[in-house]
Amino acid sequence: MDKISFDLKNKVIVVTGATGALGGEVAKYFAVQEAKVVFMGRKQETLDEIVSPLIEKGLNVLAVQGDVLDMEALKAARNKILEAFGTIDVLVNAAGGNVAGAVIQPEQSFFEMSINDFSTVTELNLQGTVYPTMVFGEIMKENKKGVVLNFSSMAADRAITRVVGYSAAKGAVDNLTKWLAVEFAKKYGEGIRVNAIAPGFFIGKQNKALLTNEDGSYTDRGNTIIQNTPFNRFGEAHEILGTVHWLCSDASSFVTGITVPVDGGFSAFSGV
Ligand SMILES: NC(=O)c1ccc[n+]([C@@H]2O[C@H](COP(=O)([O-])OP(=O)(O)OC[C@H]3O[C@@H](n4cnc5c(N)ncnc54)[C@H](O)[C@@H]3O)[C@@H](O)[C@H]2O)c1
Repeated sequence: MDKISFDLKNKVIVVTGATGALGGEVAKYFAVQEAKVVFMGRKQETLDEIVSPLIEKGLNVLAVQGDVLDMEALKAARNKILEAFGTIDVLVNAAGGNVAGAVIQPEQSFFEMSINDFSTVTELNLQGTVYPTMVFGEIMKENKKGVVLNFSSMAADRAITRVVGYSAAKGAVDNLTKWLAVEFAKKYGEGIRVNAIAPGFFIGKQNKALLTNEDGSYTDRGNTIIQNTPFNRFGEAHEILGTVHWLCSDASSFVTGITVPVDGGFSAFSGV
């Protein structure tokens, strides 16, 4: 073989949670790679603000509203995408995140956890991956070709103290990734692949207050994470792009059902 194809040009890529820190970085990166990128989020106004400078630059992007927990909204989004771009090649399930009430506070115990918040965080991360895969994956089933990339977390595989709901939900996303990879390969052939990326610790809107103080220094928890990250720092959003690109392109044509950590060594480290 002479050349491995990392080409994403003209691939129709749908990114949920494209208004977010990592989701947004990924969606913009795909646009620069000349893919046809669908930015999905809950608020049309926010999406329009993100895509208009990209459209001005001549990039082929589309802002489509859709809550990942609303099947009817997702089906309406699918119609808009098919009208504009004709097909769907790649789905990146980046919508997700933690919910404060599903984190055990220092003065709290597991037995006082809010069941509602536990359900909310599980629904967002698990069903919020399942529903878009059902709606957009159907096009991949028809084409017998496509890629699904899920967002897991370090919390899936290791017990991150206090973070009970999000951890359970992301653990389920890892399992779902394997299950879907096997199901799609067995039923529709090797053209459809399902993988996940597990980012380590990146400072974003959700965890900034937990990891940094107002003066920019690290909180105790921030320091603990750094001590357990052999690279001795937090990740920067652009550092997930190489892995995302590889998993979404034909360069990973024999790879399915895996979760790739991008974590500065956090998951490899024993703590001693
Ligand atoms: N940032 C990190 O350090 C980190 C680490 C590990 C894993 N992750 C995971 O990576 C993914 C992307 O993270 P991020 O940093 O971009 O998070 P983020 O909070 O910046 O963005 C998440 C996006 O999802 C959207 N969203 C929430 N609920 C939604 C719903 N019901 N329907 C549609 N959209 C909805 C939010 O509006 C937001 O734009 C998430 O699944 C997150 O759990 C993030």
